[in-house]
Amino acid sequence: MTPNWVRAADLDGLMAKGRSVVKLDGKQIALFSVSGDTSDSPEIKACNNRCPHEGYPLVEGSLSEDRATGACMLTCNWHNWKFDLADGTAAVGGDSLRLYPVKVEGNAIWVDIADPPPEQQIAKALAGVESAMPRHEYDRIAREVARLKKVGGDPATAVSRALAYAHDRLEYGMTHAFAAAPDWLEIGKRLARSDAEILSPYVEVIGHMAWDTMRGTRYPFTDASRPFDPVQLIAAIEEEDEETAIALVNGALDSGLGLDALQPALAQAALAHYQDFGHAIIYVHKASQLSEALDGAALKPLLHSLVRSLVYASREDLIPEFRAYRPAIEGWAEGGNAPPDAPEAYTTLSVAKVLQKIVASAEHGAALYPVLLEAVSRQFLNYRVQMQDRTDNSVSDNINWLDFTHAITSANAGRWAATRDPSLWPAVLLQMGCFLGRNAGHLDPEVHLETWEVDGDPEAFLDDVMRSLFDHSFPEYIVSCHYVKLACAIREEIRHDPAAGHGRFMVAALNRMLAHPIKRKQVLRTATQSLDFVGREG
Ligand code: FES
Repeated sequence: MTPNWVRAADLDGLMAKGRSVVKLDGKQIALFSVSGDTSDSPEIKACNNRCPHEGYPLVEGSLSEDRATGACMLTCNWHNWKFDLADGTAAVGGDSLRLYPVKVEGNAIWVDIADPPPEQQIAKALAGVESAMPRHEYDRIAREVARLKKVGGDPATAVSRALAYAHDRLEYGMTHAFAAAPDWLEIGKRLARSDAEILSPYVEVIGHMAWDTMRGTRYPFTDASRPFDPVQLIAAIEEEDEETAIALVNGALDSGLGLDALQPALAQAALAHYQDFGHAIIYVHKASQLSEALDGAALKPLLHSLVRSLVYASREDLIPEFRAYRPAIEGWAEGGNAPPDAPEAYTTLSVAKVLQKIVASAEHGAALYPVLLEAVSRQFLNYRVQMQDRTDNSVSDNINWLDFTHAITSANAGRWAATRDPSLWPAVLLQMGCFLGRNAGHLDPEVHLETWEVDGDPEAFLDDVMRSLFDHSFPEYIVSCHYVKLACAIREEIRHDPAAGHGRFMVAALNRMLAHPIKRKQVLRTATQSLDFVGREG
């Protein structure tokens, strides 16, 4: 780095005042005369005058010096951040303070204002992003990504860095923090109109990863490696054997295989059961999109966290409500050829009955998809929204919008997977049936399409919804990420089959959902259910 020494001030003037601010080549620089570690050798310190927290002037700060060691701490009095003037690190606070090299020649103070090379600044900003994560320092994450961007760095590298930081801190694997990331990045690229809108999805994605890993405990993955075998990978996931499953993933990566080689086995494992409220296949789908958005960076941590989430997936097909799933999928090959019914005929049946009805049309295979997609879309529109305001219901009736949105997003992921591997269609269709059956009892027949239908181009409506998410006000990431994932899934499904009936219902349902937002906390319900539960404990 070539120095750029600039004469900054007269030594005697600074010694008389103790501190001053100078402007050099557009930079506001604070100069301090400090005692140093011997009484006869005062030192000059130069630092950015703008506090890296909120920009207040550090020349107004307080200096404290330890004469014995020469240590010198500068406190910004606005919020008490404290910077070590030896290296600029924040002893209290977050972002570090830029210091400038100083030399004194005669009565002249010279400051080297040369900026570090961009790659060094990018590395520093990435390190800053990572160190902001353990305490979820949201505004610092935004500043560090802005610094990275300012020197020409790609903010996607901050996402990769955050993902690598977070992946082994998620005890049960991938969360929506990873799953929503590709959708946030997509809407940022496509719809952002200002620098702030470009930045905001990155802040949302990294902030969510930080939030989900805030406790900071690490749950390391094995380094073991085994030759990749897709059948063994599926079996290891089935047996909840993370060690073997990860070793097989490591083996695949070690031998140069990429996500394309692993994806079919991961999709099969995800759809092997009706499980995890649809998350399993959603995560496989979104991991694929995220890997693409990050140009393959951080693939190993992404796959590790994905596989762990598959290993830990909860098996809903084993609980009584969904016991009809297993015989339905096992009997698929002997299923019937009855023509698919109208979508509304699938919306009010129990799980067992709707699965029976789907199996009766099994020979129609993928042609059932648009019918069932319209059925889940109709249910989404007709969600009995009063359910979320109930406080006297049992835990099994804790039904909210997400029960319906997951039917849409998991169907979207299922279609993606089955389009690549048609053997997955029976699982995709029957799992849509499970959502239909579980939601059938929570519909309001008095909700009508005409009331909520959106005039004009549905994609324009969806873009407006997505754009509004650049400035959403939901404190919980889990809420905003569901809106973004849902809007993107609806858009994909409309684009996939613009003439089908589901689009009108999905868009109308989203319109209604926005008018009756997700209730974000259930204090009284939780208290009531806890009292009831504890009262029955033996
Ligand atoms: S602006 Fe300096 S600590 Fe907040």
